[in-house]
Amino acid sequence: MKPKKRHVLLLWVLVFAGVTQAIEPISTTIAVGMAATLTAFLASYQNILYYFHECCRPEWISFNRTGLEADLQRKLFGQHIASRIILKAVNGFMSNDNPKKPLVLSLHGWTGTGKNFVSKLIAENLYKEGMDSSFVHVFTSTLHFPHPSQYDTYKTQLQQWIKGNVTNCERSMFIFDEMDKMHPGLIDSIKPYLDYYEKLDGVSYRKAIFIFLSNAGGDSIIKTALEFWKAGRNREEIELRDLETLVSLSVFNNNESGFYHTSLIDRHLVDFFVPFLPLEYRHVVQCVLAEMEARGLKPDQEVADIVAKDLVYFPKSERVFSVKGCKTIESKLDYYT
Ligand SMILES: *[C@@H]1O[C@H](CO)[C@@H](O)[C@H](O)[C@H]1NC(C)=O
Ligand SMILES: *[C@@H]1O[C@H](CO)[C@@H](O)[C@H](O)[C@H]1NC(C)=O
Ligand SMILES: *[C@@H]1O[C@H](CO)[C@@H](O)[C@H](O)[C@H]1NC(C)=O
Repeated sequence: MKPKKRHVLLLWVLVFAGVTQAIEPISTTIAVGMAATLTAFLASYQNILYYFHECCRPEWISFNRTGLEADLQRKLFGQHIASRIILKAVNGFMSNDNPKKPLVLSLHGWTGTGKNFVSKLIAENLYKEGMDSSFVHVFTSTLHFPHPSQYDTYKTQLQQWIKGNVTNCERSMFIFDEMDKMHPGLIDSIKPYLDYYEKLDGVSYRKAIFIFLSNAGGDSIIKTALEFWKAGRNREEIELRDLETLVSLSVFNNNESGFYHTSLIDRHLVDFFVPFLPLEYRHVVQCVLAEMEARGLKPDQEVADIVAKDLVYFPKSERVFSVKGCKTIESKLDYYT
């Protein structure tokens, strides 16, 4: 990841050798001393490389629970259920030295509600390099598996990629974006890796993390959220059990979902179905204020209101939820500031 730094280091070694020559003649004692130093230096070269070059070691991969908790609290808005499950799931998994299966999370909800964002927060609090880590792999259906006719090739390829990457580092993370656009059945090809096996062909997948993202189930989440809103109930009263079965069923039975009739669900290989609620006006305002802060701007309530008012809300008559969640606020903010 950091080839530049490595080059600097090599250069330094060369300069060091050059200096040794330049100050000749030198006494044998000094020469021996320098040679010893150089040897010691080269011996620790490997360790220094670990320091500069990302590798599958605790220096680069360690879970920061407080970090994730703080991030979920400060940066994710309107998702009390998702926030709680994610923290509990990831923390439980990472504090277990001997998990019986990999962690498998399936995040569901309408666009712009924070599914990608949460995956990023997890990566950032697990890998020093965050989403840029060479141990974090993102598969986007329309990009990696675009042609239904190539289904068989994709199956083999996906299996090889996952096997290869977990062989490299057991703490690998795989994010499958746009699960709704994935060929139903493709995901079943990685089923063995998600299961309770100790090892498959000598490789253990038990410390890996798999995250699936999809809009599937979004409609039933919205329906529940709207019912609560219409009944005048607080959205924080919505509980996981109000949604979990609904979501897993609609995902399983939706023939446009990558999970259509998948054996992952009836084999209970997905540890958590995580619902993301549709966002209201006040959440959009929070998103804008957070984005301003992230850009080093002074959070300005007035601008936040203007940006939030510029979005489209549904249902048409009540205008409760943002159609695109917080998705388009970045470009809108560019426009208004
Ligand atoms: C964990 O995250 C917190 C909050 O972001 C940060 O202050 C702390 O330095 C992090 N700890 C480690 C070990 O990186
Ligand atoms: C790891 O996954 C990537 C895709 O993210 C793939 O290109 C690469 O070949 C895989 N590595 C191995 C060793 O299989
Ligand atoms: C999904 O099912 C609906 C109705 O049952 C059908 O009209 C549609 O063509 C199906 N889509 C696919 C991709 O099979």
